[in-house]
Amino acid sequence: MNTSVNIISIKAEIRERLLAWYDDHQRTLPWRARHGQTPNPYHVYLSEVMLQQTTVATVKAYFERFINKWPRLENLAAASLDEILVEWQGLGYYSRARNLHKAANFLSRMLPFPQIPEDLIVLPGVGDYTAAAVSSIAFDYPIIPVDGNIMRVFARVFTVPISLPKLKDEITKIAESIACKNRSGDFAQALMDLGATLCKPKDPQCTMCPLKTVCKAYQIERVSDFPKLKLKTEKPIRYGTAFVLIHEDKILFERRPEKGLLGGMAGLPTTPWEQNPLSEIAAFEPENGVEWETLPKAIKHTFTHFHLYLSIKISISKRPPKGLWIASDAMETIALPTVMKKVIKEIPGFFKT
Ligand code: ADE
Repeated sequence: MNTSVNIISIKAEIRERLLAWYDDHQRTLPWRARHGQTPNPYHVYLSEVMLQQTTVATVKAYFERFINKWPRLENLAAASLDEILVEWQGLGYYSRARNLHKAANFLSRMLPFPQIPEDLIVLPGVGDYTAAAVSSIAFDYPIIPVDGNIMRVFARVFTVPISLPKLKDEITKIAESIACKNRSGDFAQALMDLGATLCKPKDPQCTMCPLKTVCKAYQIERVSDFPKLKLKTEKPIRYGTAFVLIHEDKILFERRPEKGLLGGMAGLPTTPWEQNPLSEIAAFEPENGVEWETLPKAIKHTFTHFHLYLSIKISISKRPPKGLWIASDAMETIALPTVMKKVIKEIPGFFKT
């Protein structure tokens, strides 16, 4: 009996302390409503999509560019996919841009903006986290989006003795029990800010933390033991070959399949990306009898789940086969994945300087 009274009051104290801290210390972010203003659901949604796999520091400039170009959801819905992909260049994970294009069309026809997680999660590219973030931040729906930062804060405050992937379910239960009935969006953003600025993975600033009096890990001087880490596995390495077929000032590209990594983007033809560096698979035969020169250096690119080494074969075509030929001066204007840009940079004398 006593214990449950105690826990309820700790949760109330966490809400109170964190919201007071947020009032004084919140980060100024371009998608955030200023004090006393109503959040703009389009801004919140767009920023959350960008923040799915990209840091706050990088997203700021992209967000501002998108909002300047497409100030309202209807403007974004009217943009072509190619226009969106061009503005998205450099943010990576381009399926987000394709989903944004589809979802903006959908949303602009179903106004008012959906408010509850169950109605947001049906949008392409919106998962549990984004649905919870948009509904709490834009509409004060009482839910806490659980990401790595928020998991770390709660794992420390409640000394949760579990590592990923089970940690997520445990923290989600804690988050459900602590979500605010009022100022839910501020509470979620306060947790995000605390995780990003004070309750950091390394070198946490506990003496400045508004939760230090309620943080169990701090009280037992074991903050760095939480969250419990699972043993790291090394990223696997994959190997492949990219084919650069040149005709005059143009290079032959292909459209990658819609599904899968870099789905739907323009890419150079490559062999499949295999774990075995020696597998010589004849994947690309646009012209019979073409002589390929292999460049001395492969490029390395790291994706979320693996490192890729691509060696590069080049050939000049006299009789260009049909396909997606892109001129050197047009490369900047189309959305090319970074890995493909790295390959093209290696082609000697291709770009005029
Ligand atoms: N990370 C994900 N969503 C965020 C937000 N709205 N503010 C700051 N960091 C975030």
